[in-house]
Amino acid sequence: MSGSKHEIIESNLPLMIILTILAVSVGGLVEIVPLFFQHSTTKPIEGVKPYEPLRLVGRDIYVREGCYNCHSQMIRPFRAETERYGHYSVAGESVYDHPFQWGSKRTGPDLARVGGRYSDQWHRIHLLNPRDVVPESNMPAYSWLDRPAKVDDIEKKMAALNAVTFKVDGKPPYSEDDIKNARAQVEGKTELEAVIAYLQGLGTALKNVR
Ligand code: HEC
Repeated sequence: MSGSKHEIIESNLPLMIILTILAVSVGGLVEIVPLFFQHSTTKPIEGVKPYEPLRLVGRDIYVREGCYNCHSQMIRPFRAETERYGHYSVAGESVYDHPFQWGSKRTGPDLARVGGRYSDQWHRIHLLNPRDVVPESNMPAYSWLDRPAKVDDIEKKMAALNAVTFKVDGKPPYSEDDIKNARAQVEGKTELEAVIAYLQGLGTALKNVR
């Protein structure tokens, strides 16, 4: 059928590319944009607070070491998952997570609710050499974590999170005072202490809800 509008599009590659991009963009935006305005995705659930400075340092070490390559932080709403890990993950738990650590690779267990499951001492031994507490473990040993953490950029990290996090009740996660007082809370801490602080706070807001 010569001369049909469809033929004009299908025989003109640049036009086809532009219209395809347009169709995909509109389709994507219609799905994504409403999430920016939904309270369930932009407001923290009760009990979820911005990361304290030490946990922030630990979180960045978690990312640096690639823990997410083996550990997800996203419990799916299936019985097999909730029986094992606890309440399924909800969006309001992740509002302070930039970038989020949900992941999907589970060589090790999901860590979304690992906070409080073990003592600090257990984590210490486990991180330095997992086989000391779980003989069959194939998790790598992170023996170098027992060294001073780099903390001289903590103020910048907090300011960056202020810039990318949705304001809650008109306020960014960290006040000027929070940022000013941060250094004193992290100075002299080891990387191990920071990672453990991070792990111990994971998922505690919905811990005992079934
Ligand atoms: C190569 C894959 C791999 C990597 C990388 C890895 N882990 Fe693991 N992790 C495992 C496996 C497997 C287990 C289960 C056996 C065990 O407890 O050691 C585990 C268990 C754990 C547990 C106990 C979870 C539970 O509920 O019993 C914690 C906490 C943990 N890992 C933290 C970390 C942290 C923090 C890092 C990064 C510094 C990390 N893991 C990196 C594979 C990995």
